[in-house]
Amino acid sequence: TIANLKGLKQGQLKLAVITTAKYIIPRLLGPFCQLYPGIDISLQVTNHELILDRMMNNLDDIYIMSQIPDHFDVNFQPFLENPLVVFAPANHPLAKEKNIPIERLGEERFIMREPGSGTRSAVQSLFEKHGVKVKVKLELGSNEAIKQAIAGGLGISVLSRHTLLTDATEFSILDVQNFPIKRDWYMVYPAGKQLSIIAHTYYEYLLDAAKKITEKGVLIPDYSAAEV
Ligand code: PGA
Repeated sequence: TIANLKGLKQGQLKLAVITTAKYIIPRLLGPFCQLYPGIDISLQVTNHELILDRMMNNLDDIYIMSQIPDHFDVNFQPFLENPLVVFAPANHPLAKEKNIPIERLGEERFIMREPGSGTRSAVQSLFEKHGVKVKVKLELGSNEAIKQAIAGGLGISVLSRHTLLTDATEFSILDVQNFPIKRDWYMVYPAGKQLSIIAHTYYEYLLDAAKKITEKGVLIPDYSAAEV
C-alpha cells in the first residue's frame, strides 16, 4: 500500500537549484516532507555556473536550472515556465507606457547580475541580438539585492518573474518589446546516473505540483495551489 511505501522512504535527498528557483522549491518542500517524513533534505541555492560545477562533481541528486548544459550529457525535464521580465520601481515613468522599444532600455541605469548567472547571459544575448547597449551602473550577485536596489531608485533590471512573488506592490513590470525572455525550469541529472528511489519520488512529486500550478494559469503563480 501507499502507507507502506511511505514508511520505506528513509534517507537523504540532495537538491541544487538556481537562484530564481528559491522562490518556489523550498515552499513546495513543505508538503513533500509531510508526505515523506523519513526523508531529510539538503538544498543548495546558487547560480547557473556553480550548479554546473556541482553537477560535474556529482554532488547532488537533482539539479534545477533554466539552461541545459551544452557539453555534458544529461536527462532533463521542463516543469514550469521561468520568464524574465523588466523590473522597475512602481512609480517609474515608463510603467504606464505600452510596447516600449527595447532600445529605450539603453537610456536607463541598468542593474546586472554577476558573471556566471544564467539570467545575466540570457539578458546579454537578447541585448546583443538587438544591438542594445545598456548602462550597467551596478553589478549584484543576488536577485534579492537587485530588487532592493530597484526599489531604492538605483535603476532597472531584468529578473525572473518568480522573484516578484512576495512584494508585487513595490515594482512595475515594464511592457518592453521582445520581453518576456521565455525560459523554463528543468529538472536535470547526469545521463548515466540512476536516480535513487527517494530522488525519483521527489521528481514525480515536483512534476505533479508544477502541473497543478500551471493548470491554475495565473501570472504570478499562487504556489499554495500545489500544496496537496
Ligand atoms: P542564475 O539562474 O541565478 O544563474 O541567474 C537563474 C536562471 O538561470 O534562471
